Amino acid sequence: MVNTAVLVSGGGTNLEAVLTAVENKTIRSARVALVAADRPGCYALKRAELHNVPHLCLDRRSLGKKCFEAALKKAVEEHECRLIVLAGFLSILSEDFVRAFEGRIINIHPSLIPSFCGDGFYGLKVHQAALERGVKITGATVHLVNEITDGGKILLQKAVEVKDGDSPESLQERVMREAEHIILPQAVEMMAAELQKEEDV
Ligand code: GRF
Repeated sequence: MVNTAVLVSGGGTNLEAVLTAVENKTIRSARVALVAADRPGCYALKRAELHNVPHLCLDRRSLGKKCFEAALKKAVEEHECRLIVLAGFLSILSEDFVRAFEGRIINIHPSLIPSFCGDGFYGLKVHQAALERGVKITGATVHLVNEITDGGKILLQKAVEVKDGDSPESLQERVMREAEHIILPQAVEMMAAELQKEEDV
């Protein structure tokens, strides 16, 4: 079983999808050993509490980047996490941090990368850009995290239709429900099973 840390900043619907998948055994190779938020008061922390998962808030704004990442690394190591999942996590991790967990950090992005991704593309802004461009199909991507924002190897993608009259909010809701909440648990299971195999040899 691979201990997994989920990093959050917002409402935590992607965290909820992963926790539910562990509880209904869609995810069999991982357990969520830690939820860490980079800002106080995000509902994702409440979700962790309701699921009885160890959780902590490391206020990045007050700690500063270096202190924040040192505390995060310590918490990840204390909980013996070998996989890190960015689930609606809005802080950009340093190259040093990413290198320390090379190949073991995954992120969910609410578009079909390489469209509408990179610096400045997060949350509703992604869907705003998709609607402005007039794409008929969008979706979500799970990718490995490297030193380039949204630039790591693509692991899974799922397409979602853009409907006439969509607002950024309605499109975000459909992409989360029809894509993010499906492929993120799938990617966690895929990565954890892989890590488990490495450990078993
Ligand atoms: C959403 O915009 C989602 O598309 C992206 O992060 C935001 C919040 O997700 N991945 P969550 O509800 O906090 O998981």
